This record gives sequence, structure tokens and C-alpha cells, in this order.
Amino acid sequence: MSVSFKNPRANHNFQGRTCSIVGVGSYVPERILTNAELEKMVDTSDDWITSRTGIKERRIAAANEFTSDLATKAAERAMKMAGVTAEQIDLIIVATLTPDMPFPSTACLVQRKLGALRATAFDMEAACSGFIYALEIGQQFVMSHTYETVLVIGAEKLSSIVNWKDRNTCVLFGDGAGAAILQHRENSHGLLTSVMGADGNKADLLSMPGGGSACPATPESVANGLHYLRMDGKETFKNAVNAMVSAANEAMRRCEIDITKIKCVIPHQANQRIISAVGERLNTTPEQLFVNLHKYGNTSAASVAIALDEAVSSGKITSGDLVLLVVFGAGLTWGAAVIKW
Ligand code: UT7
Repeated sequence: MSVSFKNPRANHNFQGRTCSIVGVGSYVPERILTNAELEKMVDTSDDWITSRTGIKERRIAAANEFTSDLATKAAERAMKMAGVTAEQIDLIIVATLTPDMPFPSTACLVQRKLGALRATAFDMEAACSGFIYALEIGQQFVMSHTYETVLVIGAEKLSSIVNWKDRNTCVLFGDGAGAAILQHRENSHGLLTSVMGADGNKADLLSMPGGGSACPATPESVANGLHYLRMDGKETFKNAVNAMVSAANEAMRRCEIDITKIKCVIPHQANQRIISAVGERLNTTPEQLFVNLHKYGNTSAASVAIALDEAVSSGKITSGDLVLLVVFGAGLTWGAAVIKW
């Protein structure tokens, strides 16, 4: 797959105004679903799941716990770290492919739950790439002086669209949310660059065909399982590695740095073999690569957001470090961002 990037810029910096991540937070549901439990649900084994994906367990939201609940809890933690109150938030962007409902947006539901009633709010869908897309959008509002404080969230309740009888997919995904607060700060820290890409020609590799205008819910569509996530795993895998490597290299090129300058690479957590292949092609050391996939599985738009929070709270990232986020997902979509922490 050849990956090209439009509109390249060396640095995001609008008349000297930069955008920093001033707080991060994450939340995962309490319920842990282990590989051993999955062995009792479908024809699979801990050995297969571990060796083919690296996943040991994932979190599953309660029946009465929705994407907006996970998002709100992650947001509250990010707001606490940033020292930001709900009244200060100007904009809420929720990246998700599992909104509470088609409308109103999950962002509006989060706004209500937070009491952030001054904020405007909308959802953004770029599947597993959503958090980087949302960061880029939020950053544009901060740099253009439109908004002072932007809350960006990646949140998913993937357990609600997984076919629990399909071993090809049900072992892979989990629920969770991660959030970041964006503001301008008078220093050189912040989002240095981000790149995004998409290839709609490969839209069918990973999709949920039912429930939209093309295939509204009918008894037949539900009986045919069209409201479940489906994926061509092998093709998705190949495209993921190529796109993530290209996006990461392009982001570093725009910042005029190489991989040795990056303290921590946070890749989308979909499969340990994808992460290792990306790491190998980028020449990372094992210490540079952040992995929490074994605990959560693939949480789509929440994946790098949760990982960023864990990398910060565990002390793997400290002030001044360069961090590379790199993502890939349905669409196809992909992206990368370099952050000076
Ligand atoms: O977040 C968006 C991006 N997502 C990704 O990037 C995911 C990309 N894809 C993958 O991670 C991998 O392709 C999978 C983990 C989904 C699958 O791994 P694979 O090595 O590509 O396996 P496969 O699909 O080629 O399946 C190999 C075999 C098949 O059996 P046969 O046909 O060879 O007899 C599958 O039926 O493994 C079988 N299989 C399983 N066996 C036990 C598939 N799922 C399971 C399972 N347990 N859970």
C-alpha cells in the first residue's frame, strides 16, 4: 500500500500559538474478561489468543454503563490533572465508533454528565484512529484562538458491537476511555505535528454494515448479524503495519527528528505482532515501545489515549520527553503525532 500525506507542514504553530496537552486521564470498566473465560464461550484457547495477538484479558462495561459514562470518568480524571473545571471547557470532542446512540452525539451526553454547559460538543468518527484525528481538530481550535480549553476523548464500548459467537473477532476487543485537555501554554511544549490519512477504497476490510442509512435495523438485518463488527484480519494486519510505519516516519520528518530522539512510541494497541513489526521497521528499542494491550485488548479510539495516560502516570514519560503516537483503523484511516511532553 502506498501512503501519501497531503498538506505537509513542519510544525503546527499558528502565529506563535502552540497547543499543549495539560492533563490526561483514563478509565476502564471493572469487569475483567480473561482468555480462560473466552475458552468457555467460543472454540479458542489462551495459547492461540496470546501467541497470535498478545492479549491476555480485556475490560467489559456493565450493561448499564455506556460509552458516555466511560468517557465522562476519563474526562474527570484529565480535568483533575489539568486543574480545569467543567465551566472552563469550551469544546468537547468525542472520538468513538460505539456512540451511546446514533444521535444525539455522545459528546452532548458527556457535556450533560460533566455539567460543562458552556461547551460546544460533537462526535468524530475515525474508528481506531479517532483519538489522533480528534487531537488534531482540537489543536486547530486552540491555535486559532477560537477556544481556550478543549476536551478530547477517545471512548468505546466495543463489547456492544462484538459478535460473542465469532472467535475471529470477539477475543480481540475491549471497552475503555482516555481523555486529554488541550490549552495553549507559554512554552515550547505541546503537539509538534500530526499527520492523518485515509483510504476509503479499503472500507470493506473492517466495518459494521448494519444500523446506518444503508442498512437500517430490521428483523432480517439483525438475524443476519449485520450489526456486529466484521474484519478481514489478515489484510487489515498488512495495511496496519504499512500505514503506521509511513505515518510515523512522516511525522518525524516534519519535526526533523529521527527515532533515537523519541522517548516513548505509543502505537495503537491492536495486536502485539503489529506493534512488534512497526517497532522493527522504525528501529525502536523495546524500551521505547509502550504496550498495555495484554490488559485491555483493542479499545479502538480509546487505545492510545489510555496508553498515553498510563505512560504518563507510570513515569515513562516526563517533562520535555518526545512522544510519538501512531494509529490505524477502519476507513481505512491512520495517523501519527509527535508531542513534546
Ligand atoms: O484496530 C483496527 C486494526 N485491527 C487490526 O489491525 C487487527 C489486524 N489483524 C489481526 O490482528 C490478525 O489478523 C488476527 C489476530 C485478527 C488474526 O490472526 P491471523 O494470524 O491473521 O489469523 P487468521 O485470521 O489467518 O486465522 C488463522 C486460523 C484460522 O483457522 P484456519 O482457517 O487456518 O483453520 C482461524 O479460523 O486461526 C483461526 N482462528 C482462531 N483460532 C482460535 C481465528 N480466530 C481464532 C481464535 N482462536 N480466537
